[in-house]
Amino acid sequence: MVCHPELTHEVLMDPHTFDKGGPLYDRLGKLMGDGIVTCRQQTHRDKRRLLQPGFRPSHVAAYTDLVAQEAESVCDAWPTGRPVPVTEAMMTLTTRVISRVLLSDSLDDATTAEVRDCLTDVVRGLFVRTVVPIDALFRLPVPANRRYRRALSRLHTIIDAVIAERRRGADRDDVLGTLLAATRGDGVPAPITDQEVHDHLITLLLTGVETQALCLSSAFSLLARHPEAEGRLHAELDSVLGEGRRPGPEDLPHLVHTRCVVSETLRHSSPGWLFTRVTTRETELAGCRLPAGAAVLYSPHLLHHDPSSFPDPERFDPGRWLPGRPTAEQRRAMMPFSAGNRKCLGDEFAMVEATLALATIAGRVRLRHLPGYVERTPRPGITMGPRSLVMICEPRSRVPAAASPTSRATAAPRTSESRTAGEHVVDNA
Ligand code: HEM
Repeated sequence: MVCHPELTHEVLMDPHTFDKGGPLYDRLGKLMGDGIVTCRQQTHRDKRRLLQPGFRPSHVAAYTDLVAQEAESVCDAWPTGRPVPVTEAMMTLTTRVISRVLLSDSLDDATTAEVRDCLTDVVRGLFVRTVVPIDALFRLPVPANRRYRRALSRLHTIIDAVIAERRRGADRDDVLGTLLAATRGDGVPAPITDQEVHDHLITLLLTGVETQALCLSSAFSLLARHPEAEGRLHAELDSVLGEGRRPGPEDLPHLVHTRCVVSETLRHSSPGWLFTRVTTRETELAGCRLPAGAAVLYSPHLLHHDPSSFPDPERFDPGRWLPGRPTAEQRRAMMPFSAGNRKCLGDEFAMVEATLALATIAGRVRLRHLPGYVERTPRPGITMGPRSLVMICEPRSRVPAAASPTSRATAAPRTSESRTAGEHVVDNA
């Protein structure tokens, strides 16, 4: 288990020696196929080249209106003064957004809701199957096994139907469109198969929905427990967006504090908490000899809660990420999306989606914990976070303009201007 940021970078920046694999990914690969998340180094580059264009910064800007629209419709449906199922609503939001990015409008509302429920059951089932690798247990006819199998099979059926329907209709400029072009050999060195198209879509749904929903749910939960941070956020939103205007791409550089809340949420309550690699040859790490085939683990949660990198690590303090505040060491230690060539494909998309969704929702309503709420240590699964958060939705009162802590003068640089190779700059994304 690597516990120091520099050692973690050493592992992640040498994927030929520390390849995907180990207990988590070997098992996931068996269950989910040889997709981009679990595949070994040899086949990774082609998969990444194929999928990356849909998540480039230029494309991400085009998704901003879609995110804000979906976030608005989620919170407009909340009754004020009443408990609302926050995690479930965030799952709805992120499923609707990713399904439109991947498949345009190929899924109707009822099917999108079904996909959301299937993903919840599949992700839960995958975790138990990963940590308890005893296949016989999962053949038992018990409700949890039936639920997992039913959800997985329904997900496959829905994706197959979308692919078949698209083949009968016109080409679309979305991720499925790119994948179908690749089956015809357009713009790729070797055509891919229909099965690969299917696996890529399932993988992107599995990676892009729950992580993001848990990040947003954690943000609302943390803000409700930290009124100062919430007050600064509200002041910024009122100054940048006025009377609840829908945020657009031009607002992103001005939502400085909003972005800091997302970054600090990802530090404090990172949805991806434990990952594995496997050594492909005998090697040495931190003076220890590792044989070929050794499992190496790293944990963003552990790195983000090390007081030598982040003083008072349990404290939720978005101000840590204000422009100019984090040190070079803290930027290196901040790895919610990992690092190296297996770094999250959707990192920039995730930052933009979370910033805009948070701005849209917190610009309109305020979420409070239920009376008697007690913070519980989240139960780890493949991801970690508040899986069934319920909060009270209240109307927002506006903060007078003069009280705003951030102004347009403090705007952070745009992502494309601020990224430097190999470094993870969450605060500027
Ligand atoms: C807050 C949200 C997210 C978090 C915290 C997150 C975190 C991560 C992490 C830590 C990894 C690396 C895993 C490893 O080292 O083994 C990863 C990989 C990946 N993520 Fe994300 N992710 C998020 C959202 C998304 C979204 C929205 C998508 C896009 C649909 C996505 C797609 C992927 C893919 C495809 C990979 C595999 C990349 C590769 O191996 O080349 N993720 N993610």
